[in-house]
Amino acid sequence: MSIDINLDDPVLREALATRVAAARALLREIADDFSPAAFASSLGAEDMVLTDLIVGDGLPIDIFSLDTGRLPLETYDLIAAVKERYGLALQLYYPRHDLAETYTRTHGINAFYESVERRKGCCFVRKVEPLQRALAGRKAWITGMRAQQSATRDGLPIRAFDAANGDGGLEKFNPLADWSEREVWAYLKLNGVPYNALHDKFYPSIGCAPCTRAITPGEDVRAGRWWWENPQSKECGLHVKRA
Ligand code: ADX
Ligand code: SF4
Repeated sequence: MSIDINLDDPVLREALATRVAAARALLREIADDFSPAAFASSLGAEDMVLTDLIVGDGLPIDIFSLDTGRLPLETYDLIAAVKERYGLALQLYYPRHDLAETYTRTHGINAFYESVERRKGCCFVRKVEPLQRALAGRKAWITGMRAQQSATRDGLPIRAFDAANGDGGLEKFNPLADWSEREVWAYLKLNGVPYNALHDKFYPSIGCAPCTRAITPGEDVRAGRWWWENPQSKECGLHVKRA
């Protein structure tokens, strides 16, 4: 969430400058050596840092979002704010209507609450299948994941081969893997980057509306995602464990 930070703290500013320089160098390397590359933005805080860096440096990296059809209103508002601020129309990918219709007719409109299997089925239709289309023909993709976000992301590498996507696999980069939450927020505040209004309402991590809720202070940052499930099952299938 939007956290209180002393933006004048010299230690924080120095650490951030080092992180930003490394992220910018990596993004340029991806643009130069892995074209066509694409950045998957969920419009989360980390994704807004990457958007600002990619657009700021004019890098030829496509930026896309998976519009599941169940996103919160605040996320759609941010898509519009990104267009306003950067002149950037995110490439939106949608679920295949036949798959969405079959899923909801068979299981119901909110079947994801019934079991992990049903939830993953919904994530497949609304996120994983569209992601496969978004990544077809790409040499690399970029995410906003950080290692400190959850138990499932512990040890997250900055770069790994993703055998599950693309045409026979592609490189996957997580340029913010070693960033802290404070560094993310310091970047956003220092650069006046727009962010999701839900972050100021105790939503540090935001996905689909029915599967995301506010957390209480002290809870894990992803505690509000699929809160009815065991922490170890809390991935949507976009990020299959590295091979
Ligand atoms: S996830 O479980 O939904 O994947 P999270 O919201 O923490 O987790 O997102 C991690 C990263 O996955 C984001 O930084 C982004 O790169 C990608 N991602 C997640 N959801 C979307 C989405 N709807 N559209 C595009 N990218 C997404
Ligand atoms: Fe469906 Fe929830 Fe997954 Fe969104 S997060 S695709 S609504 S199960």
